[in-house]
Amino acid sequence: MAAEADLVVVANRLPVDLEQLPDGSTRWKRSPGGLVTALEPTLRSREGAWVGWPGVPDTDVEPLVEDGLTLHPVRLSADEIADYYEGFSNATLWPLYHDVVATPAFHRHWWRAYTRVNQRFAEETAKVAAQGGVVWIQDYQLQLVPGMLRELRPDLRIGFFLHIPFPPVELFRQLPWRTRVMEGLLGADVIGFHTEGGVRNFQWLASELAGASDGREPDTLRVGSRTVRLGAFPISIDSSKLDALARADTTVKRAAELRAELGNPRRIILGVDRLDYTKGIDVRLRAFHELLSEERITIDDAVMIQLATPSRERVEHYRHMRDQIELSVGRINGEYARVGHPAVHYLHQSLPREELAAFYLAADVMLVTPLRDGMNLVAKEYVACRFDESGALVLSEFTGAAIELTSALLVNPHDTDGVKEALFAALTMNDEERGKRMRSLRAQVMSHDVDRWARSFLEALGVPVPSE
Ligand code: ADP
Ligand code: F6P
Repeated sequence: MAAEADLVVVANRLPVDLEQLPDGSTRWKRSPGGLVTALEPTLRSREGAWVGWPGVPDTDVEPLVEDGLTLHPVRLSADEIADYYEGFSNATLWPLYHDVVATPAFHRHWWRAYTRVNQRFAEETAKVAAQGGVVWIQDYQLQLVPGMLRELRPDLRIGFFLHIPFPPVELFRQLPWRTRVMEGLLGADVIGFHTEGGVRNFQWLASELAGASDGREPDTLRVGSRTVRLGAFPISIDSSKLDALARADTTVKRAAELRAELGNPRRIILGVDRLDYTKGIDVRLRAFHELLSEERITIDDAVMIQLATPSRERVEHYRHMRDQIELSVGRINGEYARVGHPAVHYLHQSLPREELAAFYLAADVMLVTPLRDGMNLVAKEYVACRFDESGALVLSEFTGAAIELTSALLVNPHDTDGVKEALFAALTMNDEERGKRMRSLRAQVMSHDVDRWARSFLEALGVPVPSE
């Protein structure tokens, strides 16, 4: 197998996860989350390489070529998964960067594991990248890799993109290892965020903590003799592919079947998320519950579907939240369901893309209510599927997507009354207003797809991007 690649993506996970089946055999399945949704089509079309963890502990997997994409698995031990992935990445950085909606834990042995694993990713990448090649490092799990890789391979062009919010300065400063993280990130030539707010926060901290000064051009920093470029690159989806999938006869038929299976309620409300406490699933359940209890709607008017991909199931906050959500679903159904007619349909499952598109097409109202979210691709996926220019999107102000999707019904997820009123407005909105809003949302999503995102980042990195 060719050892060197001109374009290498480095992410905590490979785009596919190795699944161990009860009979001892294994198979690959798609990895969860928005990072893979966005990057997979981008990289496949550019025939790059991908360095990442195969999703299971203590397993050596040989590099493999899958559909034109070369995958380079990085081995992690069970202890490293506990300390680097579940610990530092998902119980320290994740809550800290998401406005401390859960309390972050700071443990020195987690930090040591994070450093060790980041070093391993840097070493594996150094072996894979061609001389003078481009390496694009992804997300909060690998913030030390840019600096470590630069030490090993100064010939490379290095980009870093953060898929989650970069936090306000007061929160980042809580991190005991803040200077090390900042120095790690500043090893990149280009650092990308979803929003201008992230760029501003980072710029301030880079000069405070790492002595960076303003570069000659706007949005650049001087770090020693190097220039680091910063930028806001709002990520997106493969909009036209999803639009085509939604238009397919099989999807349209399946969407009609879903409506019928639900008993043809007047309105279907949908939520689609990784089961994560940042997503505000509890907020939307509360709003729906209150509308039912105030008798403003009945389950003949509207039913709710919540699709939730299992996520980070060994992390304490996630376990607790799952229990809370399942309790709420049980409560709402206990009070309002009839036999064969639940008020809330809850699936703790990951669905195939075709089935997901049919759900988007069947849903009259999409509820996206995160307390904090870097972007939120689900909101964009819903819009891309609404080729009929119908359907209403209720969207949290605290998502990156809200900056672009201004024709959605924007809500503050901390304001239960506000979410409830927006949900009611979405359920009762007239066709004309719904159509007007959806046309404007679609104009944005269809013209700002993931290819545009990848091109603009790679162009900032100085990579020649062939025109379409
Ligand atoms: P995050 O990256 O935090 O998970 P995003 O909304 O940006 O959030 O991306 C989530 C991705 O996961 C989307 O592509 C969405 O379609 C997918 N997804 C979420 N829930 C499910 C589910 N139950 N089944 C299949 N795909 C899902
Ligand atoms: O940015 C969101 C993200 O954390 C990605 O980094 C990650 O791939 C995805 O969500 C899914 O999370 P996990 O890899 O922890 O299952």
